[in-house]
Amino acid sequence: MDKLRVGILGMGRGISHLHSFLAVEEAEVIGIADRLPNRQAEAEKVMRARGNKGKIVAEYDDLLAIKPDVVVVASNGRMQCEHSVKALEAGCHVLSEVPGAFSLEEWLKIRDTVERTGKQYMMAENLCFMDFIRYWRKWIEEGRYGEISIAEGEYVHYLPETITNATGEFFTPSEVKERGLTNVKPTWRADMPPIGYLTHDLGPLLELLDDQVVSVSCRNAGWRCKEAPLRSDGQIALFHTAKGLLIQILVTLNTKCPGDHRFRLFGTEGGLEWSGYEQFCRRCDKSRSEMAGWEVVDIGLGDPSASHGGTDLNLVRYFTRCMLKNGTVPIDIYRSIEYSLPGIIAAQSANLGGVPISIPDLRRKAFTHTDFWKVVGFPENEPEGRHFKTAPLKANKETVPFTDFVHVPLVSEIFPHAPLAKLAFPKNKDTLGLKPKSYSGNFLDLHIELQKAGAALVYYACNIHCAVAMKLKLLFGYDGPVKVWIDGAEAHYDPHGTNSAVADAVGIPFDATKGMHEILVALDSNGGKAWGIFLRFKRLDFSPREIEKILSPSHIPIIDVFKK
Ligand SMILES: NC(=O)c1ccc[n+]([C@@H]2O[C@H](COP(=O)([O-])OP(=O)(O)OC[C@H]3O[C@@H](n4cnc5c(N)ncnc54)[C@H](O)[C@@H]3O)[C@@H](O)[C@H]2O)c1
Repeated sequence: MDKLRVGILGMGRGISHLHSFLAVEEAEVIGIADRLPNRQAEAEKVMRARGNKGKIVAEYDDLLAIKPDVVVVASNGRMQCEHSVKALEAGCHVLSEVPGAFSLEEWLKIRDTVERTGKQYMMAENLCFMDFIRYWRKWIEEGRYGEISIAEGEYVHYLPETITNATGEFFTPSEVKERGLTNVKPTWRADMPPIGYLTHDLGPLLELLDDQVVSVSCRNAGWRCKEAPLRSDGQIALFHTAKGLLIQILVTLNTKCPGDHRFRLFGTEGGLEWSGYEQFCRRCDKSRSEMAGWEVVDIGLGDPSASHGGTDLNLVRYFTRCMLKNGTVPIDIYRSIEYSLPGIIAAQSANLGGVPISIPDLRRKAFTHTDFWKVVGFPENEPEGRHFKTAPLKANKETVPFTDFVHVPLVSEIFPHAPLAKLAFPKNKDTLGLKPKSYSGNFLDLHIELQKAGAALVYYACNIHCAVAMKLKLLFGYDGPVKVWIDGAEAHYDPHGTNSAVADAVGIPFDATKGMHEILVALDSNGGKAWGIFLRFKRLDFSPREIEKILSPSHIPIIDVFKK
């Protein structure tokens, strides 16, 4: 076989495959089938413009009669099993659109037919051929992110056009009503559980992680979208993999958000993110402190000018070359099932209120590794990253002069009670046993420790850095007697502090020179009733004109985040 002879069923999505196969030298499109005359006409135009003389037929049987080596099944998702099995029985290999099948029974039928006929079956999961995925896999293999523990994928696509007419046009239910359309019916997607459409996200993640999923728990969002009321607005599935990782997949087809595919990987020594909408990848690998923030890397889909960013063409090219070289495919029947069946089982879990369900393994031999990368290979270049900067904040009178709350102070051991009135700044701070403690909220809460200790004393410490000299106010809230020192000098003493603590209740003005300043707070536990403090800073010497300017980091103090 010097050229792969291709027949394509379905000229909706299939027209993109037609373009791709016409562009691949090693393939020859010998025919297409579609019952819709308008779609036939469009395909004919495309084929003839490229000098292709392939047959154009209405019926699938007529396409099979011309004996293609491969049939591309691009009929709707509910028909794909029937059409794939028919092609395999007719002696053709199959490249099938997603989702490939609609039930476990359908997948068993396709698998058994592939095994019996000895023909190849590949799922046309184009997102596995996004260019950035190759970089990510290479970097994972190099250990740049440590062990990956958690992965996320999201598919957001507003598809309320769930009614179709005899010429293959699509409408929302409101449009059907407004126009008084008759002779219309729901599309195959109208009542499809959204999670059933997860192959675009799960497929690439499985290749990246070289893994398979073994169980799932999934939940439904409500059915609130008036335009697509037959399916949940979205579903979130949580998968456990054979290697013990977690994969979370969100699919929503009912929420009116800009379309996107998002991927995130969380490793023990770093992480990676990609947004199809924003068209960028960001990374933080083990050579970089998480405190330094993200790096942006210019890697993307591949070719932004081509269909689906070049992923469609890459898919068809790799498929054709593999078939001609050794008669195999990059995503075989077992891998195809592993992309799609988890979505079918996830929908069952959602119907049962999220109970975990095992995902059947339809392989004959246990999965050991993916062969995908042997075919697709890794990129040779090493793209430079650049520091990710958020857009500068427009100055705002309410927020500009304030720092964030202190979230990672140093906290001392709990000491026996000592009267605050006589308490002096400690001669040697090393004796306090200060250690970093991290808080997710703004309140530096020690109530468990203080309640247990009864009458006691505890210290909080923090450092701030000022890029220039500035007038500041230490903003403070507390629920027990306190004493505060700024750079070793007593700045505030309140023996009457009591519950409850209110953020910014007290302001202590002070002049800060350029450089580092040290804050120390002693909190009396008030017999075990005190819980903790709030602490942040406000800059006082901003002129109204400066407030109108763009904020730069040098305008307010930078709070030290202590490393544990
Ligand atoms: N990978 C992607 O990026 C991507 C994008 C869009 C659609 N898809 C998938 O592609 C598949 C097709 O989607 P679509 O939107 O084109 O669906 P569609 O229903 O609009 O088109 C299917 C076409 O197949 C034809 N057809 C079906 N059975 C036939 C038969 N027996 N004989 C002749 N013609 C027949 C129909 O006339 C129709 O024109 C879906 O499964 C969808 O999920 C994938």
